[in-house]
Amino acid sequence: MKEPFNPFVINTYQGKDYFCDRENDLKMLISHIENDRNVVLYAWRRLGKSALIHRLFDELETSKDYETLYIDLLATQNIDEAIQAISSAIYEKYGKTSSGISASIQKLLAAIGATISFNALSGTPELTLGVNKSDQPSQSLAALGDFLLSRKKRIVIAIDEFQQITDYEGTNAEAIFRAWVQQIPEVRFIFCGSHRTLMEAMFTEKKRPFYQSSMLESLQPISLEAYTEFITQHFQNAKKKIEPASIEKIYKWSRGQTYTVQLVCNHLFANNKKVMDSDVDIVFNQILVQQQA
Ligand SMILES: Nc1ncnc2c1ncn2[C@@H]1O[C@H](COP(=O)(O)OP(=O)(O)OP(=O)(O)O)[C@@H](O)[C@H]1O
Ligand SMILES: [Mg+2]
Repeated sequence: MKEPFNPFVINTYQGKDYFCDRENDLKMLISHIENDRNVVLYAWRRLGKSALIHRLFDELETSKDYETLYIDLLATQNIDEAIQAISSAIYEKYGKTSSGISASIQKLLAAIGATISFNALSGTPELTLGVNKSDQPSQSLAALGDFLLSRKKRIVIAIDEFQQITDYEGTNAEAIFRAWVQQIPEVRFIFCGSHRTLMEAMFTEKKRPFYQSSMLESLQPISLEAYTEFITQHFQNAKKKIEPASIEKIYKWSRGQTYTVQLVCNHLFANNKKVMDSDVDIVFNQILVQQQA
């Protein structure tokens, strides 16, 4: 991972050093995984669900006991695209060997009717699912599941923006996915989503396929204490200064929303050597103006 220019990252997970706290959340997730429990992780927007998953996967991969797959369903509109997203993640992780595409992946791609083409602009390989198989999503998922079961290490799959499957037309995607999860009981799943009510409904309504199938965990804001330590430390490391009172002001104004705290600190860090109260107000104002549209 490349070092960021600004220690307050606002785009994605950039490694442990730039990740504030969440130690208890991490322990909770690891405990669920070590005890064979699937998890639903949900929270308000921009609180840090996806970043936490990346942080967890960093930890699991370094432990050498697990292999992790991160799948984002945000951009998917139907079950074929979901299967394509899963296949792509598997291909990205296992497909490339020094001598080309591994034999087991070639077999898998053939089984699910996927072909690899090269993007004409970037030259990067892209996976496309053949139309001939699109009416058999369960079979494609079964083939993907068999491949995952053949791996020696334990596998943890995070499916981000999972509530997206409730939008798929036609097929009962919830039932199909539920069946898949049950076919591969050794694989651990973390279902993540930013639509609180939809996620809750999927896992708590009696008539739904995923009813009581996973542990529901709602992510809370990072504590002010932990954030104060994190922010102070990063300013100090760069020989800059910020007072705890300013941090509290930022935290309250952001209502503890991780992204907003990060954004304010990113600006303050860039603009000031010693942060004054008036500097904080200037940044609040800039952010409000930017958000006006
Ligand atoms: N513990 C943390 N320490 C520092 N930065 C964090 C932390 N958690 C999240 N962030 C940052 O906050 C921003 C929002 O986090 P993230 O995208 O993970 O939230 P999310 O809950 O998945 O949001 P969405 O609802 O949009 O999916 C990101 O820029 C991320 O880098
Ligand atoms: Mg997210």
